[in-house]
Amino acid sequence: MTKPRLYSGIQPSSDSLHLGNYVGALLQWRGMQDEYDAFFSIVDLHALTNAAFDPATLAAASRGLAAQYLAAGVEPGKSTLYVQSHVPAHAQLAWVLNTITGFGEASRMTQFKDKSQRFGAEGTTVGLFDYPVLMAADILLFDAEVVPVGDDQKQHIELTRNLAERFNARFGEVFTVPSGSYPEEGARIYDLQDPTSKMSKSAATDAGLIWVLDEPSVTRKKIMRAVTDTGAEVRYDWGTKPGVTNLLEIYTAITGVSVAAAEAEFAGKGYGDFKRAVADAVIAELEPVRARALELLSDPAELDRLLALNAARASEVAEATLKRVYDAVGI
Ligand code: ADP
Ligand code: NA
Repeated sequence: MTKPRLYSGIQPSSDSLHLGNYVGALLQWRGMQDEYDAFFSIVDLHALTNAAFDPATLAAASRGLAAQYLAAGVEPGKSTLYVQSHVPAHAQLAWVLNTITGFGEASRMTQFKDKSQRFGAEGTTVGLFDYPVLMAADILLFDAEVVPVGDDQKQHIELTRNLAERFNARFGEVFTVPSGSYPEEGARIYDLQDPTSKMSKSAATDAGLIWVLDEPSVTRKKIMRAVTDTGAEVRYDWGTKPGVTNLLEIYTAITGVSVAAAEAEFAGKGYGDFKRAVADAVIAELEPVRARALELLSDPAELDRLLALNAARASEVAEATLKRVYDAVGI
């Protein structure tokens, strides 16, 4: 029986994943590997669109991300994990898709508008503008049916679906039309210092971010210093207790206990006890991941060998799709 295809990826734009990526992406991926033929990409071509990317560290960041995927439980026997630039078909398909993408529809992408404001006139490149088309190519190359992403990607998934349908209508049934799979409420983690904004590597300081590769003592300190409120009750309420609620989300996402059970567990206890328990749970989860990632990184040649093998498998699938596309458009 062939399994449905799944595609997802993360940019190698920091040395370490943060807890939001870990809970919102890696934990979801790990749980989907048995059900899907999954392709997990390290999207370094996308990383080139960041105004501040560093050529001296990009390859190492890709390798580091691969180590974290593996350490978090992505299994190369079940899934394909590879670096995007190792598979040239991504850029080749993106070019073809460019020719059926309306300038107007690409101009409506809100992520481009947000990023171009942040990056300024000089950082706003054609590559940044074209990012969603490359993302469409990523997904369509693998005939992915399911794309687990954050809900900030909904507009890009919609564009991908439109391009697939438009191409199929004009040139014949070549592409599988994919669907986004968006995380449940509990998979969204917020900044520990500003629990109304999403934990993100673009935060101004890293005091509110937990990095997967942080030392456990640093993780503990950050959680103990997390913003709460002047009350004393551990209760789930985004409206009046965002800090406490975010910590509850983290705790329940990692331990698997329900919010009601967690509230009961901490009833009558202070925030100090609660934070200690959250820190214990996060450290128990991340410490083995960190240790395993560092161990994998101590043998970069072995990691590179694994990535090359996986890129070969990804290329086989991608080349077959690209051939269908080229045939369909008559080149
Ligand atoms: P960042 O916002 O730090 O730049 P990315 O946009 O690179 O993170 O996200 C990579 C993956 O991690 C995506 O699947 C995204 O949905 C997930 N993710 C990012 N931040 C969070 C968060 N705070 N909570 C849950 N999932 C997140
Ligand atoms: Na982002």
